[in-house]
Amino acid sequence: MIQYQTHEVLSHFPTAEGVQVLQDGSHEARVWSVLPFKNQGNPITPAELRKKIGDETSKVGQGRAFKNGWIAKEGDGLVKIVEQIQDTTLNDLQEVALTGTLKAGEKVLADLRKRKLIIQKKGQWFTIHKGPQFSTSTARPETDLTADMLVSGSWKTATYKKYNFEAEGIPTTGGALHPLLKVREEIRNIFLEMGFAEMPTSSFVESGFWCFDALFVPQQHPARDLQDTFYLSDPKESLPPNPKYYERVSQVHEHGGYGSAGYRAPWSQEESRKLLLRTHTTASSAHMLYKLAARCRGEVPEEDQKEFTHGASSTTSGPSSKDDDGFRPAKLFSIDRVFRNETMDATHLAEFHQVEGVVADRNLTLADLIGFMRVFFSKMGIEKIRFKPAYNPYTEPSLEIFAFHPMLDRWVEVGNSGMFRPEMLEPMGFPKDVRVHGWGLSLERPTMIRYGINNIRTLVGHKVSIDGIESSPAVMF
Ligand code: PHE
Repeated sequence: MIQYQTHEVLSHFPTAEGVQVLQDGSHEARVWSVLPFKNQGNPITPAELRKKIGDETSKVGQGRAFKNGWIAKEGDGLVKIVEQIQDTTLNDLQEVALTGTLKAGEKVLADLRKRKLIIQKKGQWFTIHKGPQFSTSTARPETDLTADMLVSGSWKTATYKKYNFEAEGIPTTGGALHPLLKVREEIRNIFLEMGFAEMPTSSFVESGFWCFDALFVPQQHPARDLQDTFYLSDPKESLPPNPKYYERVSQVHEHGGYGSAGYRAPWSQEESRKLLLRTHTTASSAHMLYKLAARCRGEVPEEDQKEFTHGASSTTSGPSSKDDDGFRPAKLFSIDRVFRNETMDATHLAEFHQVEGVVADRNLTLADLIGFMRVFFSKMGIEKIRFKPAYNPYTEPSLEIFAFHPMLDRWVEVGNSGMFRPEMLEPMGFPKDVRVHGWGLSLERPTMIRYGINNIRTLVGHKVSIDGIESSPAVMF
């Protein structure tokens, strides 16, 4: 729109001392003006002069005034000897202040510079002309080439906006995976690649029998209290369980068996039939283990035993030979919701998700469980784990699993595990040499640790921000 040329000039400007001269006249003029005329009054001594106009002015001024022939000595003092003076220094400075230079030329300028009355500065100025596209209004550059522009031919003269290759695109809209679902998917994949089959866990409501009794949890155990477990009011009671199995479970609780002394405490059918919201997915594991043992009990299962294998088919008939006791090894997992009557706080909710697994095989040892845990957790990215002896009514020995968290710089509990007790396995019908180890962990805890979330309510419940979830790096694939 416009064209311009840049010009560089050297300009002169008065210094602070120069400004002083512009106000009061040059040093020499000031000396001349305070002196008396020759033969008219007392000559002024240099000392008096210094007092009157200052050391600097009198020193510089005297020299110049003498040189100009303005003043002369008379005895010890000084007098002026001309009627009128031309203050050239002042005139020159005025010209410099006004024009930035002097007609008199560089020699005089150099002299003023030497006297530190002016300094030289570099300046820049521009000459500006209308350019070929000069206009007093701005046209919006085109961003699109339209059919209209092609038809009218206006595309030929239009100006176009430059394409910005640095621009970021508009975020695409679409669904987002909740961090919990994402971690669930990752854990599910770990199980699947290790050859586990997924257990059906859709029954949130269980009976006390499957949640506790089948697991050899005594009926007097505090976990069964109202403060810890949500019981149903309608319906209150479950259908009766398989009578033979039921009989074996109640026997082992009350009187022992299978090498156990039992609890020798009263057993109530009513307690066992109470309906509740399952407190752990081990209730589902109990169902599945009972089902797995069906072939050992000699009951040809009507259910498809395929659910115990991941992909590959397995025999659906009972024991095939005299040596075959019907047992088939199994690796099962589940990831689903459980409910506990907890006081809710930043890390506890009344419902959460459990990751659970069981491995059933002959002659498994505690070393198998520990070794398995190391592999499983390393697949989750957790390398440093430690075990602590613990107590569960249904496992012996039991181990709590701790993982070292580098960001928190401490060991955090990540799970609970153990070898299921014979009091639980044998009434189901498993042969004596079959061992089952199992473990459980919360899904929320590793998710919170992984994504640096310290309040569970940012992850679950009505305070979860949908925008936060959608924009969280956790949901990206
Ligand atoms: N049910 C246990 C819990 O809720 C976890 C567990 C499962 C422990 C299986 C041992 C064996 O913490």
